[in-house]
Amino acid sequence: MYRALYWSDEPAVVLLDQTRLPGETVELTCPDVPSLVEAMQRLAVRGAPLLGIAGGYGVALAVATGADVESAAYDLAHARPTAVNLTGGVVRVFAAYVDSGGDPAAVLAAAHALAAEEEAAGAAMSEHGLTLVEPGARILTHCNTGALAVGGPGSAFGVVLAAHQAGRLAHLWVDETRPLLQGARLTAWEAVQHGIPHSVLVDSAAASLMAAGEVDLVLVGADRIAADGAVANKIGTYSLAVIATYLGIPFVVVAPTSTIDPNTAHGAAMTVEQRDAEEVATFAGQRVTPPESPAWNPAFDVTPAGLITALVTERGVLQQPDRAGIAGLATR
Ligand code: MRU
Repeated sequence: MYRALYWSDEPAVVLLDQTRLPGETVELTCPDVPSLVEAMQRLAVRGAPLLGIAGGYGVALAVATGADVESAAYDLAHARPTAVNLTGGVVRVFAAYVDSGGDPAAVLAAAHALAAEEEAAGAAMSEHGLTLVEPGARILTHCNTGALAVGGPGSAFGVVLAAHQAGRLAHLWVDETRPLLQGARLTAWEAVQHGIPHSVLVDSAAASLMAAGEVDLVLVGADRIAADGAVANKIGTYSLAVIATYLGIPFVVVAPTSTIDPNTAHGAAMTVEQRDAEEVATFAGQRVTPPESPAWNPAFDVTPAGLITALVTERGVLQQPDRAGIAGLATR
C-alpha cells in the first residue's frame, strides 16, 4: 500500500518523506550517506526498527558509493542516540562488510536480510499481540508505530491493524504526540489508509479519556528496552503508563527483540535524545512562545518495567517483564 523505505540500485536509499505527511506523499532519494543521516536527523525516516533498516542500507550505500565505510558507519550509528535498532542495524551490516572483505553484493544481501527479518518480526508481533485484544476493544496509542516506523505492518500499530482485520477493534484513540505530531500526522494517516475508525486527541486529554472508561488497552512501541525491562519510547509514554496503572488499564509494549539492549543495565542508564528547542517553540511553522523563552525538548522518556503489563515481541507475550524475562528474550 505504501513503502516507508526501499533500496534502489541507482544506488540510493529511497524514503517516503515523513516530514511531508499527511499533506503530501513524496519520496526522498538519498544518493549518499550524508543525505541519509540528515534525513534520519530531521525525521524524514524514523521509528526504531525502521532506523535499524535504514542504517543497514546506509552501510550498503557507503560501500556502493565508494565512501569511507568505517566513518560512514560511525555517522549512521550516531545519527540519533536512543533507538538501539539503529546501532544494531549498522553494526550487523558493517560486520558483513568486514567478513566479506568489502564485497558490495554480500553487504547489500546483509541489509536485505535485516529488512526481511524485521518484516517477519512485525507480522509475528501482530499475531501475538492480537491474543491480548478483546472483541470490541478501544485502544489508545502514542506516537507512530506502523509501517512508517517498522518493517512490516508495525509494532503497536500492527496489533491494532490485526485487531481491526479480525473485527475486534471498536476504536483507535491516537495521541497527537507533541511536539512533532507523529500521532496526529502519521498514525492518523496510516489509520485512514487502512480504514481504521479513529480519533486524534491532544496528549493531555488521555488521562480524562481513560478515566471516563473509554480505553480498554494502551499499546505503544519502544526505542530501547533496558536489561531490567525499562522502556525508552516517545516522550509522553511514561505518563500514559502511570495513568493506565492508576486506573487499572493494561499497558502493553510491542517491540521486536532487536529493540532489547542487554548492555543498558537499567532505565536510568538510557540515553535520551534532546532535540532542538525550536520544535517546542513553534507549531505548524508559527512561533508560539516568546523569543526569550527557552524550552526543554526530550524526544523520549523511560517507563519502568513495573508499569508494563506485558511485552509483545516476535517471540510471544512476556507478562510483567522483568530482568529475568528480558534476559530470556535477549539471549535466545
Ligand atoms: O522520534 P521518533 O519518531 O523516531 O520516535 C519513534 C517512537 O518513539 C516510536 O514509538 C518507537 O520508535 C517505536 S516504533 C515501533
